[in-house]
Amino acid sequence: MRILVTGGTGNVGSVVVTELLNRGAEVRVLTRKQPEAGKLPVGVEVAIGDLLDPVAVEEAMQGVDKLFLLNAGVPEELTQALIAYGIAKRLGLKHVTYLSVFKVEQFRDVPHFAAKLAVENALREFGVPYTILRPAYYMQNDLNLKPVLTGAGVYPMPIGTTGIATADVRDIAEAAAISLTEDGHDGQIYDIVSPTTITGPGNAALWSKLLGKDIKYTGHSFDEWEKGMRARVPSWSAYDLRVMFQGYFDRGFLSTETEVTRLARLLGRTPRTYEAFAMETAAAWQSQALQHA
Ligand SMILES: NC(=O)c1ccc[n+]([C@@H]2O[C@H](COP(=O)([O-])OP(=O)(O)OC[C@H]3O[C@@H](n4cnc5c(N)ncnc54)[C@H](OP(=O)(O)O)[C@@H]3O)[C@@H](O)[C@H]2O)c1
Repeated sequence: MRILVTGGTGNVGSVVVTELLNRGAEVRVLTRKQPEAGKLPVGVEVAIGDLLDPVAVEEAMQGVDKLFLLNAGVPEELTQALIAYGIAKRLGLKHVTYLSVFKVEQFRDVPHFAAKLAVENALREFGVPYTILRPAYYMQNDLNLKPVLTGAGVYPMPIGTTGIATADVRDIAEAAAISLTEDGHDGQIYDIVSPTTITGPGNAALWSKLLGKDIKYTGHSFDEWEKGMRARVPSWSAYDLRVMFQGYFDRGFLSTETEVTRLARLLGRTPRTYEAFAMETAAAWQSQALQHA
């Protein structure tokens, strides 16, 4: 069985590729440029193309049985997803597993949630067997915080004080691979959520303990946060993320025990926790620091 993975060079997709190979699938990755030697595991086929180019997408899907569809966070996300989905449908692919987002229907004012909700609706409407994965906030987002956690000593994500749900990308990838290689997942929607939730002050305290220094939560002043983000990402993206975090703050982004139990049943084990991720990450940073000392 050959599976096309979009986003296969990224955070989630690269782990999906490994999980699929572990389960004996043949894997093809769609990427916009030839990956450097050794970047992809041995045996992975590469299709060069852009998701906005239907001709390249159709070529990449020739001889493919199933599709893992992940779209990058870009303003053309919806068009890219519907091109890939439409061609998968036309070519008669047997299954599409789509990477959506947790609580997608509760944040219709957030552009990237609204795009995913539209894609989910198409999946439900047009008859290609599908599975939808709805991951919460990626724990691995916080790998990007190394400079501010180890330097200035701040936890800068405006995640509030009530708690938000998180997902480890390794659990997302495993769920994706299961849905694509085993029977019984057609029409299923899986929330990918950890058993524990995180808060701004809680994460500041956790990283303080793990890194042995004082780390402060910078709070949730959304105007200021969006302004700061504009220096790092395009302004449409800073806006999109601000509305998302403000939505979490106003409407909540907590998971339930039922959702966690359902994921545990799918994975055959308890999903990973943020605490475990942070411990592993702090240990890796400390050993890197020792190597460079
Ligand atoms: N971060 C979170 O907390 C979170 C939570 C829930 C859902 N999500 C969703 O997760 C997705 C991002 O996943 P990720 O972090 O794994 O992505 P990522 O690491 O940013 O990687 C993006 C991937 O998309 C590919 N790509 C980008 N533009 C493309 C194009 N025009 N044509 C073909 N391929 C293209 C890139 O491949 P090349 O560069 O090799 O072409 C790369 O493999 C988004 O949809 C986001 O909304 C994120």
